[in-house]
Amino acid sequence: MIKEPQIPLFDLVACLSDAVDLVSPALVDHHKQVAYIASCIGEELGYPLDKQKDLILAGALHDIGALSLTERIDTFNFDFESGKQHAVLGGGLLSLFEPLSFLTPVINFHHTFWNHGEGTQCAGQPVPVESHIVHLADRIAVLIDVNKEVLGQVKGIIEKTQERSGEMFDPNLVDAFVSLAQKEYFWLDTKSASIYRHLRRKARSKTIVMDLNQLGDLAMLFAKVIDFRSSFTATHSSGVSAGAEHLAKLCGFSERECRMMKIAGSLHDLGKLAVSREILEKPGKLTPEEFNIIRSHTYHTYRILETVEDFETINTWGAFHHERLNGKGYPFHHLGKDLSLGSRIMCVADVFTAVTEDRPYRKGMNDAETKKVLQSMAKSGTLDANVVSLLELHFEEINSIRSKAQADSREIYKQLVTAL
Ligand SMILES: [Fe+2]
Ligand SMILES: [Fe+2]
Ligand SMILES: [Fe+2]
Repeated sequence: MIKEPQIPLFDLVACLSDAVDLVSPALVDHHKQVAYIASCIGEELGYPLDKQKDLILAGALHDIGALSLTERIDTFNFDFESGKQHAVLGGGLLSLFEPLSFLTPVINFHHTFWNHGEGTQCAGQPVPVESHIVHLADRIAVLIDVNKEVLGQVKGIIEKTQERSGEMFDPNLVDAFVSLAQKEYFWLDTKSASIYRHLRRKARSKTIVMDLNQLGDLAMLFAKVIDFRSSFTATHSSGVSAGAEHLAKLCGFSERECRMMKIAGSLHDLGKLAVSREILEKPGKLTPEEFNIIRSHTYHTYRILETVEDFETINTWGAFHHERLNGKGYPFHHLGKDLSLGSRIMCVADVFTAVTEDRPYRKGMNDAETKKVLQSMAKSGTLDANVVSLLELHFEEINSIRSKAQADSREIYKQLVTAL
């Protein structure tokens, strides 16, 4: 029997955090650095461990609403001020998952200037002190030149934050940072390869262990972060997830396995976060380099989820969706004998959903065309013929489940985008 995964919340948050920083070498580890710096400032202020843990989660997720690479790169300008849009979208996304929704106000205001005390409020709403901590931590992180030795940079970074104390930053927080900045370990940790281990140890002692229901809800949040980066794929993971879950049911999977399949569907394109919106939405022909970047997404899904204990089954069901029975898929070139039924179901659900969607370069296919594509792929030995037959047999039913899931997700997308 397949074991039910029990995953600490932090472990999956770290996956999302890693995935969104893969989009450019300039961003690698940024979320982790901000999480670490924010939690150390909290510790310096004497915050209890629970609050430090919240700062880790806030730092690890602060820019998930920045959909394009340009938006992410813009925030690396120290004086960056106009960050409302990505902050509000990030806050809105977190409100979709109850255990993280308390972070919504923190993320909404993480670029709010202190403005000599007026920054305790913004647009008539209170700004949590954690927003100012994340803001300061974020600005410190962008000042660190990762290509240079770090201790030699401390003096300059302290001067820069003190210069903007009162106007950009809360002076109390700057004072706490300046005292923290005297300790070499803090700086060495920010650039250390083991920063993840530090964070995990600190965050895990208190983070909740999620059951399959909570895991499903969190995976749905991930699906939205992945999908909303492009209006063309804004509902893709929701469709794949619903289609795969139903196909699994028809194949005789247990209720628990069906729920795991739904999670795998929500996460199957996690590695797409490493592909910039600029490439995803490119209307013309992709360059060979851009095409290679897109193709690498399943590799990233697999390698990122591989770091989560107890996640092997969900990972292989999700991440192998571009493998083909004849070994001509990617990135592992597994043969049919290496692909479990769960992975085969995902391959079918992915193609089925993808061909029905509009893309920048083509319109979505109608039912007859969709069936034709699936049949020919089953015939040529790329997709599992039994799963395809099952889909054909229950076409209307599965198609309506898929399209309802996508319509629901489209509604949330519209609401979040209109709120901006
Ligand atoms: Fe930001
Ligand atoms: Fe940031
Ligand atoms: Fe994919």
